[in-house]
Amino acid sequence: MNVLIDEEQIRLQIERTAAEVSRRYRGRPLLMVGILTGSFIFVADFVRALDIPCEVCFMAASSYGDSDVSSGDVKITRDIDRDLSKYDVIILEDIVDTGRTLARITEMLKERHPLSLAVITLLDKPARREADLEPDVSLFTIPDLFVVGYGLDYAEKYRQLPYIGVMDS
Ligand code: IMP
Ligand code: MG
Repeated sequence: MNVLIDEEQIRLQIERTAAEVSRRYRGRPLLMVGILTGSFIFVADFVRALDIPCEVCFMAASSYGDSDVSSGDVKITRDIDRDLSKYDVIILEDIVDTGRTLARITEMLKERHPLSLAVITLLDKPARREADLEPDVSLFTIPDLFVVGYGLDYAEKYRQLPYIGVMDS
């Protein structure tokens, strides 16, 4: 495994971004929506870096199965039941690749009329974008590499690595 982004770099970027979110959303009814499974570590670290209150919930979408090739068909496999009209919503995602997953999720959540909706992604791979979706904030922009660790998997493995790595080919 080769380290692409180490723990310290992740920690610093989360601190910076969380400070900005804390400033911008202070006094607002903030709901963080994590997209399972890949975002679970990012969400845990991100909300602990905030110094304002927020609520946390999770959705799940699948398009990949056990393969690393997107099928393009995004299914919502776990939904949230919060009344979004009462919240400023921030979606937390592990990585935006083709953008199809987030395009589908943001379209769905917008129909529920949140007070506001923003997307924060840990990683952005703009080279592979297919859907009309740009995250509002991305902590790291990476080249077209398949990465694992810090929540991201290859066939459900490597999620527990504390850094973002690239497998040896
Ligand atoms: P998209 O719909 O193509 O943007 O894909 C988003 C989802 O694909 C992410 O939430 C990840 O679960 C998965 N994915 C995309 N690229 C990678 C990668 O490099 N490593 C691990 N998972 C990835
Ligand atoms: Mg994901």
